[in-house]
Amino acid sequence: MLNILYRRRSIRKYKATKLDPAKVQQLMKAALLSPSSKGFKPWQFVVVEDTELLKQLALAKKGAGFLKNAALGIVILADPAISDVWVEDGAIVATILHLTAETLGLGSCWIQIRERQFTETESCEEYVRRILEIPENLKVASIISVGYPDESKPPYSDRDLKFDKVYLNKYGSKF
Ligand SMILES: Cc1cc2nc3c(=O)[nH]c(=O)nc-3n(C[C@H](O)[C@H](O)[C@H](O)COP(=O)(O)O)c2cc1C
Repeated sequence: MLNILYRRRSIRKYKATKLDPAKVQQLMKAALLSPSSKGFKPWQFVVVEDTELLKQLALAKKGAGFLKNAALGIVILADPAISDVWVEDGAIVATILHLTAETLGLGSCWIQIRERQFTETESCEEYVRRILEIPENLKVASIISVGYPDESKPPYSDRDLKFDKVYLNKYGSKF
């Protein structure tokens, strides 16, 4: 697990290669295995592989442009009527997808949608909802872009780890 965590980076450049359906299946198995508060699993997903839709979703905000070249965008939705901590549940599932992609030799990146604006009058969430015809009762948390990496980034090393943020027993005591 630690090796995966050292290697995982946000990958925003992808090869044109489509994903093997077995890998897509594995990604979604991982998503559905995610822990959630009280086991309520308030999430739902839209797996977007249609090139035209990916292009449109890439316009959702400035930091989403690379989605147009991804093989897949996994849109994470959640129902706040099912869980009051759907934000946390949605973030966990995004993390699990991001890490699972790494184990499958795929690159991925988190694209924040919740609390982001598309225009002054329309939020990113409303924009994505409009494009994908998502019902009003569901929140759009984020999108995870996935594809075969076309960039390589150095893995993290122990030098990157800020142990000065970690305290032992009481705040301020050296770990
Ligand atoms: C909550 C969250 C939201 C993020 N939103 C975006 C985003 O909208 N667009 C983007 O390109 N990267 C996004 N990222 C990726 C971060 O920029 C990235 O994780 C960070 O710069 C560290 O780089 P690394 O993932 O390679 O370690 C997001 C990451 C997190 C955890």
